[in-house]
Amino acid sequence: MSSTILLLSGPNLNLLGDREPEVYGTDTLDDHVATAATTAERHGLSVEHHQSNDEGVIIGHIHRARRRCAAIIVNPGAFTHYSWAIHDALAAFEGPVVELHLSNPNAREPWRHTSVVSPVATGTIVGFGGHGYELAVEAVARLLSR
Ligand code: DQA
Repeated sequence: MSSTILLLSGPNLNLLGDREPEVYGTDTLDDHVATAATTAERHGLSVEHHQSNDEGVIIGHIHRARRRCAAIIVNPGAFTHYSWAIHDALAAFEGPVVELHLSNPNAREPWRHTSVVSPVATGTIVGFGGHGYELAVEAVARLLSR
């Protein structure tokens, strides 16, 4: 079985560390990817990370994960709230899917309260900032060890 976790980061997450630090913290995306990779290593897993501001690029990564990656952890950024195309792509992936957000969208503006990704996620981790990356990988490791 594959030991690769596909970690996907959606639009504007490349600006983490600089972008609205009062909401998203001061750690960069590289910092979060390093946290995920270190956690994965502890479980004999590895992380393949891609960030894109382009919906189609993200969908392509999800397609290429099919029958190749063990699980997907995805922070779709604002695509969370309206990308039915990402929803459909994730629905066609056979392994566990963890939806991850740094902030808690449910405690923010009303338009962030809807996630079209949640219905096709195995589980969702929100509101724990960078610690969420460790929690997401721990969740995947547990799911894969069953
Ligand atoms: C986010 C929450 C989304 O609502 C927002 O559009 C983002 C980041 C988060 O990680 O908290 O870009 O996904």
